[in-house]
Parts: sequence; structure tokens; C-alpha cells
Amino acid sequence: MASSKSKILIIGITGSLGFEIAKASINASHPTFGLVRDSAFSDPNKLNKIRFLLNSSVTLLKGSLQDETRLIEAVKQVDVVICAVSSNQVFDQKLLIPAIKQAGCIKRFFPSEFGADPDRTQVSHLDNNFYTRKAEIRRIIEAEGIPHTYTCCNFFMSVLLPSLVQPGRRTPPTDKAIVFGDGNVKGVFVKESDVAAFTISAVDDPRTLNKTIYLRPPGNVHSLNELIEIWEIKIGKNLERIYITEEELLKKILENPYPYNWELVFIYSAFVKGDHTYFDIDSSGGLEGTQLYPHIKYTTISEYLDTLL
Ligand SMILES: NC(=O)c1ccc[n+]([C@@H]2O[C@H](COP(=O)([O-])OP(=O)(O)OC[C@H]3O[C@@H](n4cnc5c(N)ncnc54)[C@H](OP(=O)(O)O)[C@@H]3O)[C@@H](O)[C@H]2O)c1
Repeated sequence: MASSKSKILIIGITGSLGFEIAKASINASHPTFGLVRDSAFSDPNKLNKIRFLLNSSVTLLKGSLQDETRLIEAVKQVDVVICAVSSNQVFDQKLLIPAIKQAGCIKRFFPSEFGADPDRTQVSHLDNNFYTRKAEIRRIIEAEGIPHTYTCCNFFMSVLLPSLVQPGRRTPPTDKAIVFGDGNVKGVFVKESDVAAFTISAVDDPRTLNKTIYLRPPGNVHSLNELIEIWEIKIGKNLERIYITEEELLKKILENPYPYNWELVFIYSAFVKGDHTYFDIDSSGGLEGTQLYPHIKYTTISEYLDTLL
């Protein structure tokens, strides 16, 4: 019997998030396809991923966003396209959108977003057009009338959480912790595999058509002060807090040009401006992932921090 699940093409399947999305798609029994560039076969890490995907019955199609003929052939084989190219390649999606339009068979497109909402962030003067580019892709999708879903997961757990939001560090602090602003503004962290699971759940869900899914899972929304308190309890020790005011943080951001200041810009966005949480999801017309899919068992921040002990 033919599967009633949509066929999904993942562009960026050899990347960090794309590979997680592929695993979630396989777990959910979607016929899964991936567009793979020739260069991926000469990278040992990517070759391991390719072997895993082939062993999991994923159909890998050679091509790239720049190879129009192969791209259209790939898009024509599926119902849904999920793009997970990196933020530097967001504008390459301008080649994908006409292919989706021409193929005419795509019921849902998930562009490469997977962060804070690019229409609502308040750091456009600082972020080297990081969010403006993602917002521009949204406008093209909407102007072309392509059915879509935007996934706004906020921070991946692999970003900033391993250091407990201490720029330049890779491990949590043991004596002193820097707190930006007053430390009371809440940000959101979601594990990459959970971002993938929520995204795949939305694929065949009519409620998410032409909507934005925000992820604010209970247990994953915390201020810097709360993060430090959780960590202090886990290590059984109080940390000295060093407060950096908004003005001092802005000065540091401006003194260190992009890309050296990227951690500080994202910290400013989330934990000073409140870009992950300052707006109400319901009144924004969006949907919250854990309310849509309460069955998904996700990793909380506390559980993630336990792995760092
Ligand atoms: N919220 C967060 O904290 C956070 C953190 C990181 C990333 N993100 C977002 O997640 C998304 C994915 O990022 P990522 O870090 O997972 O990306 P990544 O690991 O750099 O992977 C990018 C993927 O895109 C593929 N690709 C690049 N250019 C391509 C092209 N022209 N044609 C076809 N495939 C192409 C790459 O293929 P090759 O293997 O051939 O190079 C690779 O598979 C982005 O939107 C990014 O902004 C969010």
C-alpha cells in the first residue's frame, strides 16, 4: 500500500540540522530524499552521514541549488521541501523558489530559518543582515504564493548553552559568570534533534499551513540569572556574578566587527532585547510547537546541563 506520508526532500541533508531532520523524517516513516553535492563525498564526516542515510533507505540525489536541471528533477519527485542550508547560503534559496514554482507539486516548503523570528528580531543594525536575508526569502515565498511553514526554534542547544552563555568559552563557568543586562530577560534553547522532530511533525499538519511555528518548550525558556541558578544547584557552588550593562555590551559589539562579535550580537538579541520571548505567540498569529505536539518528548535545559557535569 502506498504511504500516505508526504515525500520529503531535504536540501542540506549533510549539514548539522539537515541530518537531524533526515533522522526525524526516517523515524516518522516519511519517504525521504536528500540533495547531495559531489563535494560531500570527499569529506569523511559527510561520507559517514551519507552511508547512514543510504542504509536507512533515504534516496540521495546528486545536485546543488546552482544546478537548475537536477534541482527541478529532485523537487518534482516529492511533496515537501525542507531547506537547511547554512545562514551564509540563505540567498541561494532564490534559486530554489523558482524551481519549486516550476515543479508545481510542492504542498509545503520550509525555508532555512530555524532561529529567532526574522520579522521580529530587533538587531538589524548589528547583525550584518543575518535576519534581513531570512526575512527577504519569506517575502519572495509569500509573493510567489508557495505553501510554507516557518520554524522559529530560537537557539540550538549547541549554541551558547555549553558555556552557559559565556562568550569565548566552550564549557560552563566554575567560579565567575558574566551576566548581560539585568539577567532577567528570557531566551530559549532547543536541542537540534527536537527542532527536527517538531519540524517533521508539522509537515502534514493542516494547522501549520502558511504559519510560523515557535518553539518555547516549558523547561527550555530561561533568563541568564535562572540558568546560573540551575547550574549552581547542579555543581553545589555559588558563582560570582559579573554584570555587563546593555551600554557596555553594545560598546563591545561595535568594537569587534562581524564575524568576531556574533556571540555578543546573539546574546544581545535574546537576553537583552528579548527577541525570543517579547511577543505573544497567539496574538502574533503563530503556533507553539509543544502545544501542537504534546507527545514529543524533548530535552529540557536542565537535562542538557546534566550532560555537562
Ligand atoms: N538557532 C540556532 O542556534 C542555529 C544554529 C546554527 C544554525 N542555525 C540555522 O540552521 C540552518 C542550517 O544551518 P546548519 O548550521 O545546520 O548548516 P550546515 O551544517 O553548514 O549545513 C549546510 C548544508 O547545506 C548544504 N549546502 C550548502 N550550499 C548548498 C548548495 N548551494 N546547494 C545544495 N546544498 C548546499 C551543505 O552541503 P555540503 O555538505 O555539500 O557542504 C550542507 O549539507 C540555517 O538556517 C542556520 O541559520 C540555527
